[in-house]
Amino acid sequence: MQRLVYILLFLLSFYSCQQNTTQGKWIKGSQKEQLEIIEWQFRGFDKAMVETDYRYQELYWAGKDKNWEYANYSVQKIKKAMITGFQRRPKREASAHEFLTIALPEIQKAIDLKDSIAFNLAFDKLTISCNTCHALEKMPFFIIKTPLHRHSSIRKN
Ligand code: HEC
Repeated sequence: MQRLVYILLFLLSFYSCQQNTTQGKWIKGSQKEQLEIIEWQFRGFDKAMVETDYRYQELYWAGKDKNWEYANYSVQKIKKAMITGFQRRPKREASAHEFLTIALPEIQKAIDLKDSIAFNLAFDKLTISCNTCHALEKMPFFIIKTPLHRHSSIRKN
C-alpha cells in the first residue's frame, strides 16, 4: 500500500513538472520566465498613453461632429486604457486623480446632455488635466494641445 502511494506521488510530481515546462511557440523557459516575457510584451504606461492620445483626438472630433455615441465610446476607451495602464504601473495612478474624478466625469456629463458648449469647455479642461499629470509625473515635455487634424476615417455623415 505504502509503495503504491509513493508511485502515485512520483507520477503526480512528474505530471506537475511536465505542466511547468509547457512551452509556447516563442514564450519559453520556466513558468516564472514565461510570465516575465508576457508582462514585458504587455509593455508599461507608454502603450496606455499612445492609445489614450488616439482616443483623446477621436473624442475631440466626435464632439465636433456631434457624434455623441462615438464620443461616449471614446471616453470609455480612455478609461479602460488608463485603468489597464495602472494595473501595469500602479505608481502612476495618484497623479491621475483629478483627471479621473473631475475632468473625465465632466466631459461624460456634456456628452450625456449632448451639449456642444459644455463639451468644448470640458475638453479644454481635459487637455489641461492631461498636462497636469505629465507635470506631476515629471514629464512636462509631453505637452498636449487641442488636436489639429483628423486621423481616423470615422465621420458622422
Ligand atoms: C498618470 C497621469 C497621466 C494622465 C492623466 C495622462 N498622462 Fe500621458 N503620460 C503619462 C506618463 C507617465 C507618460 C510617460 C509614459 C511612460 O514613460 O511610460 C505619458 C506619456 C504620454 C504620451 C507620450 C507617449 C509615448 O510614449 O510616445 C502621450 C502622447 C500622452 N501621454 C498623451 C496623454 C493625453 C492626450 C492625456 C489626456 C487625455 C494624457 N496623456 C493623460 C501620464 C499621464
